[in-house]
Amino acid sequence: MTSVLHRARACTAATGFLFIIVAGSQVHADSTRQAVSSVFDGVFTEEQSARGEAQYLETCKRCHKEDLAGDQYEDVLPLVGDKFLSEWARWTVGDLFEFLTTEMPPKRKDRLELSAENYADVLAYLLEQNGFPAGNAELLPTLEPLLEIEMSPNE
Ligand code: HEC
Repeated sequence: MTSVLHRARACTAATGFLFIIVAGSQVHADSTRQAVSSVFDGVFTEEQSARGEAQYLETCKRCHKEDLAGDQYEDVLPLVGDKFLSEWARWTVGDLFEFLTTEMPPKRKDRLELSAENYADVLAYLLEQNGFPAGNAELLPTLEPLLEIEMSPNE
């Protein structure tokens, strides 16, 4: 009899302990979500992607085309769709920002005409065209905060 009671007590204690672990990991998951966001969280504004569209048409369209599908005959990669998204899924928005500012457009003299703000705007347009939601704050034109934004859901 005592041993049954003892087991019951041990069991309650174990359940309580488990509860604390689960509750603890819940808190942990929430705090991670605050520190790191993803492109699914609304990380640019509609105004920003509209500015980005104008910039895109001026700077990128001649190679990547108006529908962002690229040009397979000229080896210009598409900027929308599954292939583009799976390519960048394991990177962050900051990595994409860095790629753009150092590689696109391919000619350095063309890149010098663009400011960091111009690049952040174009980036917002690319995210919008890939179906990600707009939100209340703009993408910042600096690398560090953009490195905190994952290109895939961070569940
Ligand atoms: C002169 C033609 C040209 C212009 C202008 C140009 N690109 Fe590109 N872009 C390319 C080519 C060619 C590639 C593929 C080779 C490479 O990755 O370097 C490419 C690749 C890319 C990629 C990588 C795609 C992937 O799947 O990894 C991105 C992103 C990109 N361009 C964005 C832009 C943006 C944004 C602009 C305008 C600011 C721009 N490009 C302007 C020719 C161009």
